Amino acid sequence: MQSYSQDQTLILIKPDALKNSLTGYVLSQLSEFHTGLRFAGIKIVHVNTMLAEEHYAEHKGKVFFPSLLEYIMGNIHYANEPWKHRVIAIVYQGPDPVKKIRGLVGPTNPLVAREEKPGCIRALGTLAPLKDEQGKIVGERMDNLIHASATDEEAEREIKLWFRPNDIPPSMHAYPVDTCTEYYYFKDNTLRTEHEPGSTCFLAPGNSAWKSDLEALQALNQGKPASCSVETVVAKYLVNN
Ligand code: RTP
Ligand code: MG
Repeated sequence: MQSYSQDQTLILIKPDALKNSLTGYVLSQLSEFHTGLRFAGIKIVHVNTMLAEEHYAEHKGKVFFPSLLEYIMGNIHYANEPWKHRVIAIVYQGPDPVKKIRGLVGPTNPLVAREEKPGCIRALGTLAPLKDEQGKIVGERMDNLIHASATDEEAEREIKLWFRPNDIPPSMHAYPVDTCTEYYYFKDNTLRTEHEPGSTCFLAPGNSAWKSDLEALQALNQGKPASCSVETVVAKYLVNN
């Protein structure tokens, strides 16, 4: 049997790419023929505030953060068509996926992308000025069509944030999976282990979950420090809810 690399990366085809019908172009640029990478998972996701905030947590507090959330949630490119608020999330697997895909994607800023790497995917992006309440320009929004994990650590965090183990064929799992033995509910931004009216059961005994998520839930439930927040674990179970 041929050996194969289980390394993975996360791609998001963002609302500006969907609006401009660039999905086919992006998929063709990233095809196995060009990159040697295979699909491990793919889903259409309605991005809610919790998932957007978790995905872009590192940018919280920056001047462009609110507009970044609006952008990824689809509120900017589909202002009057809420039924079109979604992104395409893809896990690619194969040798050296992070570096290969970041190379094809290009620099974050579309203007820089056009100058430094004509032909890269983000060279087709746009910039929009960000204004304060007085109309003064305070920054810019970078509509750059696509997200790609920047490091292996970021890929692991992001794949576990957007995908449940069951979204990916078992033979393609890159991270340990375990079977849940508890009931876990979510209500008012709080983790619970017993049902209350209005709470959502997001994991039950017998469900598959990322092992690191189950360890985080156990720690949070016992009031101990955890590797991630409850929102990080819950966000993927509330996708398209
Ligand atoms: P991404 O995460 O989307 O693949 O982009 P990246 O690694 O190249 O850049 P990152 O620093 O992670 O930024 C995430 C997204 O935030 C927006 N951004 N705006 N106005 C600004 O200075 C600025 N900096 C970043 C972009 O939409 C970027 O893709
Ligand atoms: Mg990034």
